[in-house]
Amino acid sequence: MSETLREVISEAAIAARVAELGREISAQYAGLDVVMVGVLKGALPFMADLLRALDFCPDLDFVRVASYGDGVAPGELRFLMDLETDIAGRHVLLVEDIVDTGRSLAYLSNMLEKRQPASLKVCTLLDKPYRREAAVTVDFVGFAAPPVFLVGYGMDIGERLRRLRGVYELIR
Ligand code: IMP
Ligand code: MG
Repeated sequence: MSETLREVISEAAIAARVAELGREISAQYAGLDVVMVGVLKGALPFMADLLRALDFCPDLDFVRVASYGDGVAPGELRFLMDLETDIAGRHVLLVEDIVDTGRSLAYLSNMLEKRQPASLKVCTLLDKPYRREAAVTVDFVGFAAPPVFLVGYGMDIGERLRRLRGVYELIR
């Protein structure tokens, strides 16, 4: 099967936008007790870069959900890993690679809200708002994403291509 990659967002553009998001998030959370929660696995590179763009040090924790399996179409949602941290009374910033249908985020937000955090906000590198099937609020968005399947900077196709430093359209 032939596969081509077309660059959609360059490494430099990501770095510039992550620096801006870092400033915006730092300003909003000044002086607060923050837990940054990464949604594994796709958020890993974004979270690492965003963390280093902040001027404060949040606690870090992770959840893991999977919905795609090996392909390019969303499937059954599976909850695979929970937090270690008690988030009650703390400010939670959920970090995602991309919000597409919103189903994973709706599931996670609902689960985390029940634990009564002081606040729950969402930061995603990429957003496809026109694809929503579940109503979700996204507070910080890196870029609006085109209606194509994307890989790189954490995003995969069957676990491949996560390591790419930019974001690419996968053409097959
Ligand atoms: P949602 O539940 O449909 O909003 O999407 C949940 C997850 O699916 C995202 O957090 C990504 O990890 C993954 N995903 C959605 N769209 C893409 C894509 O274009 N490329 C790679 N992964 C994606
Ligand atoms: Mg994700």
